[in-house]
Amino acid sequence: MTQVNAPEFVRHPKLIAWVEEIAKLTKPAKIEWCDGSAEEYQRLIDLMIANGTMQQLNQEKHPGSYLANSDPSDVARVEDRTYICSENQEDAGATNNWVAPAEMRAKLNGLFDGAMEGRTMYVVPFSMGPLGSHIAHIGIELTDSPYVAVSMTKMARMGKAVYDVLGTDGEFIPCVHTVAAPLKDGQKDVAWPCNNEKYIVHYPETREIWSYGSGYGGNALLGKKCLALRIASAMGREQGWLAEHMLILGVTNPQGEKHYIAAAFPSACGKTNFAMLIPPAGYEGWKIETVGDDIAWIKPGEDGRLYAINPEAGFFGVAPGTNTKTNPNCMATLTKDVIYTNVAVTDNGEIWWEGLSKEVPANLTNWKGQPHVEGEKAAHPNARFTVSAGQCPSIDADWENPAGVPISAFIFGGRRADTVPLVSEAFDWVDGVYKAATMGSETTAAAVGQQGIVRRDPFAMLPFAGYNMADYFGHWLQLGQEVGAKAEAAGNKLPKIFNVNWFRRDAEGNFVWPGFGQNMRVLEWIIDRCEGRAEATETPIGYVPTYEQLNWTGIDFSKEQFNTVTAQDKDQWIKELESHTELFTKLGDRLPQALKDRQNELLAAVKSA
Ligand code: GTP
Ligand code: SPV
Ligand code: MN
Repeated sequence: MTQVNAPEFVRHPKLIAWVEEIAKLTKPAKIEWCDGSAEEYQRLIDLMIANGTMQQLNQEKHPGSYLANSDPSDVARVEDRTYICSENQEDAGATNNWVAPAEMRAKLNGLFDGAMEGRTMYVVPFSMGPLGSHIAHIGIELTDSPYVAVSMTKMARMGKAVYDVLGTDGEFIPCVHTVAAPLKDGQKDVAWPCNNEKYIVHYPETREIWSYGSGYGGNALLGKKCLALRIASAMGREQGWLAEHMLILGVTNPQGEKHYIAAAFPSACGKTNFAMLIPPAGYEGWKIETVGDDIAWIKPGEDGRLYAINPEAGFFGVAPGTNTKTNPNCMATLTKDVIYTNVAVTDNGEIWWEGLSKEVPANLTNWKGQPHVEGEKAAHPNARFTVSAGQCPSIDADWENPAGVPISAFIFGGRRADTVPLVSEAFDWVDGVYKAATMGSETTAAAVGQQGIVRRDPFAMLPFAGYNMADYFGHWLQLGQEVGAKAEAAGNKLPKIFNVNWFRRDAEGNFVWPGFGQNMRVLEWIIDRCEGRAEATETPIGYVPTYEQLNWTGIDFSKEQFNTVTAQDKDQWIKELESHTELFTKLGDRLPQALKDRQNELLAAVKSA
């Protein structure tokens, strides 16, 4: 049997016993206890270069940066292989895949038996949230992927110090991960081991995560979607807080007034870009600062305000479409120490992806390691970069403050070619919850499956809610009531809720709204609405700005274009609201009555407009 040999910095008998138990099951050739040191990082990188998993990039252009190409079958989250295994199926709800825990355990015990044979099992200690803070949660990921181990040093607070916080009996969330490609004696490894069969399993009641068969992103870096969203959302419901698929940004106007905003857009719908926005020409004196780009943990304060932290320590961001014009802060973040996955590379060791530059470089090797062919994608559409958040020039001074930052407004936004206007403000909290709950968005390359299909993605949490979505809506409604009452007593306000759509298209299929930095114009109106300074027009679906009520300094955007991105078509809206019934019916009898009522009220208002 594999020797566990816990180092002396691990003083937690239960943890050591668990590592022993998993080693006995998965049968790795070796166990390595990660300490998060720079020496360890480099050693694992060098090992992966030797294995062919990674390549070093041009060290002048990309110091400290590396590229990994995944197996072409392992490029995104696998939603149909992702399970919430609560004791009762009803608690997972109709939008989650479910198998009874006992049945799933039996299945996984079989699959994990010997799954790490011939490989090293890395013990990866990590904290989601500032290390040692009251708000953080600790996970230990056992993985046979060195790619995962090094990625976790950027995405979470990973290292030896986690054991100091755990002490001899601290609580941790056990996360077991295997690429499920055991190596027999003498068998040659492949560059990106994985398995065609995949399971991403969560047990919300016992707070465990088991991931089988994939080495990619949210399937494998278990601190992110698995812990910080699926498990954390279930914890938050029990404990009165929220774990959300939201970016957090700070916006300061020329007068020095600062607001923090949290925004939920589905995967690959603009969170990283919005979080790092640089105000455009005409917005001199304005500043945007980044707290987080993907996940927010939000807790009510005694003062009736909601305080948000970013539990992550890095960005696992979409590469295609990112360039010095669309996201200069992101490009500046990527100047060094980046792990790229599935981007293209020149023969000079420089990275490239669709949208990085107009010119496609000559002698380009695509993400599959083959010569790039014109007309094909050089980078995979879900190609990503992994980088420490601290490297971002716009990082907020309070991004690691365990007290969190107070939220002034929530924004929800999907990718919709039609129907949904550029921006609208909900009438109140319940109306805002309705709008978020029924949000539709075109599917993207962030998940395996057909793309560009409009589906309901409630709160941008469809793939990430760790419990029944109807109960999740109820939790938001109840929190609004409780926090609203506290806020009133303290002279504060509940955050306002807004809906945005950067992705309206014209008849030719082009985006009409310039997006990116220009989204500042919408953000300014949102802030002014929160401060009671901006005018708005009431429509059946919410308050909206007129052309004159937005600030157009520094841009040529005609009233006609504005009308295209803000048009509310009566027939489209009747169809839209009626289509919400499909989700509501699916969610069944736990769906809060307030949302059903809201649907009827909105339908009546739209029909009589
Ligand atoms: P996840 O990491 O999957 O959660 O994605 P995300 O929500 O952080 O999306 P991201 O900011 O990475 O953007 C995804 C894609 O949308 C990229 O190709 C961006 O270039 C593009 N995008 C982002 N913002 C805008 C925008 O305002 N307008 C347009 N047209 N495209 C945008
Ligand atoms: C998403 O899909 O929303 C992501 C990427 O942020 S992953 O971490 O792979 O889930
Ligand atoms: Mn995401």
